[in-house]
Amino acid sequence: MNSRTGFGEASAYAHPNIALIKYWGNRDAGLRLPVNGSISMNLDGLETRTHVRFSAELSADTLFVNGAPAGASDLARVAEFLNRVRRLAGSDLRAEVQSENNFPAGAGIASSASAFAALALAASAAAGLHLDRPALSRLARTGSGSACRSVPGGFVEWRSGARDEDSFAFSIAPPDHWDLVDCVALVSTGQKETGSTEGHALADTSPLQNARVADAPRRLDRCREAILKKDFFALAEVVEQDSHMMHAVMMTSRPPLVYWLPATLSILHAVRKWRSDGLSVCATIDAGPNVHVLTLRDSAGEVADLLKATAGIQDVLVAEPGGPASLIRG
Ligand code: DP6
Repeated sequence: MNSRTGFGEASAYAHPNIALIKYWGNRDAGLRLPVNGSISMNLDGLETRTHVRFSAELSADTLFVNGAPAGASDLARVAEFLNRVRRLAGSDLRAEVQSENNFPAGAGIASSASAFAALALAASAAAGLHLDRPALSRLARTGSGSACRSVPGGFVEWRSGARDEDSFAFSIAPPDHWDLVDCVALVSTGQKETGSTEGHALADTSPLQNARVADAPRRLDRCREAILKKDFFALAEVVEQDSHMMHAVMMTSRPPLVYWLPATLSILHAVRKWRSDGLSVCATIDAGPNVHVLTLRDSAGEVADLLKATAGIQDVLVAEPGGPASLIRG
């Protein structure tokens, strides 16, 4: 750390998360203030590691992802985020950012959540800011909404809040509270057509969005309660309903967003069948064709094998509940 400026370097990691109750649509797109609250689980074993170095020798921000220079739009998004950090710290030093994901690019796991959670922690620490978890979660939110949920650990709720100050995520249960497992069935590893940021902006064009948002407090209550009581079948019902409601909004937006591929639907049918056969299993889908199949640790091996034997599935990643974003020391 440069003792005169208080600026230096820092490294941090964060896990991606799977939304059990989805964030879809913003009241304020600039600040990423969502129209409804959401609930998620961090995904252990999958992570983004980010190193940030502020220096007076740099004339512009630079960004490397997995060792390669990032494209212009990713760099612009990160530079805008770093401007917030600079404003908070009262500095105009530029930064070099190096970020590595240990999960394959295009795996259908949103890397923006783990990326902006790790960046918020590494950049704020490198800038000499000592942000508490809520402040860090708020900062991460401005980079990517779902990133605010990758700051705290385990099972996490993001209350929509009414303004910047009260829109942040917090843990509702630690990772070891429940042995829920996410088996991510990879149907396609291609780049998705419409990214989440563009998709959020279309949510209001669907006549179904108002109904989805109006019913969100009920789904949040049911999901939170199911997690706290470790009631898998109650969780399954609300998680699938919430995912279907978001995809109904997506499919009825103008222009419509249809993220599902034929294999996506095949997995949904298979999961329903396995559940009616007595297996603890349910499905949820983010803004892409891959299916997050939730189960319990005892059944995870069986579920992963069943998925691998299903036509159209390229690979299955298995993740247990993960901890909070953390600094990497030394
Ligand atoms: C479908 O957080 O990726 O995964 O704020 O524009 O970065 P930006 O969007 P993002 O949206 C996530 C959408 C979702 C649902 C969810 O994770 O809650």
